[in-house]
Amino acid sequence: MLIKTNADGFLHPHASEITPQSVYQSRRELMRWMAGGAAGVALAGWAQRDALAQAARPGKLAALPGAKSAVAGAVTMEKLTSYEDATSYNNFYEFGTDKADPARNAHTLKTDPWSVEIEGLVKKPGKYALEDLLKLSAQEERIYRMRCVEGWSMVIPWVGYSLSALIQKVEPQPGAKYLEFLTLADPKTMPFVGSRVLSWPYAEGLRMDEAMHPLTLLTFGMYGEVLPKQNGAPVRLVVPWKYGFKNAKSIVKIRFVDKEPATAWNKAAANEYGFYSNVNPNVDHPRWSQATERRIGEDGLFAKKRKTLMFNGYEAQVGQLYAGMDLKKNY
Ligand code: MTE
Repeated sequence: MLIKTNADGFLHPHASEITPQSVYQSRRELMRWMAGGAAGVALAGWAQRDALAQAARPGKLAALPGAKSAVAGAVTMEKLTSYEDATSYNNFYEFGTDKADPARNAHTLKTDPWSVEIEGLVKKPGKYALEDLLKLSAQEERIYRMRCVEGWSMVIPWVGYSLSALIQKVEPQPGAKYLEFLTLADPKTMPFVGSRVLSWPYAEGLRMDEAMHPLTLLTFGMYGEVLPKQNGAPVRLVVPWKYGFKNAKSIVKIRFVDKEPATAWNKAAANEYGFYSNVNPNVDHPRWSQATERRIGEDGLFAKKRKTLMFNGYEAQVGQLYAGMDLKKNY
């Protein structure tokens, strides 16, 4: 069972002057929804405690505690995916295309020192050291569903903060309409960089209002610890209403640009992977249906699949961003 979730925009102290109108509109709707549903809110609070109680630290890596998030949009009653599954069944093509390859191969990734370069249409470009990024805003723990385009899903307690905090810090210029995310492509430490399966570096993009949406998480940890290398250490993106491939791992550069940036999967197969990549059970992948999904670890081989939810269950929070858009065309 799913609890209807509520995004947190109004709880953030820095609701920015650059937050697009559509975000404010969805916030207002949410506030109305919350005001009209006190019971729902109480239930959501209970569900969050319940879900967080499962998120015991695995004790494998350094702690990265997130204050328990007030982000109701992160709440789900669904059982967390086990740490074991979340760290052994991965997509990280720089380390191989088999699901077991990243866990096997990513130990060569060197994550210290690390910095993220901010370029393009911003007033404060520059190289931002990981240590400074970590301190930029309070770390929060958010339990998000992740739905992969291949038809499986997980529920993971991520640790990070809304990407909007970083965007506000670097002060976008008015012409900045999109963000492009580029990730590390180091052939010395990443054995599959250079393979022809994708063009490198892995690239992803978001429209400014998507990037500013409070649910979009700049992510440094999971299960109360720093990110394991196979999960995109030391910093990645998690955009819970989009297919998993939007969640660029091991980010080294963020460019603020005026045009929709090219993305790795779109370049590889434009008819299969669009720029928006919103989870949508009504738009099939050309080679398979997107109507259902298999929850990793929870469902047996013969277990009934789950129905995939519009925007991965976050429609109340993000649907407004796409008002009036043809989602079949903009897949
Ligand atoms: N980021 C990089 N740099 N390289 C990749 O191959 N794969 C994407 C995304 N981010 C990928 C990436 C895909 S297809 C998915 S489904 C998610 O990472 C998987 O994240 P997870 O392994 O932490 O579950």
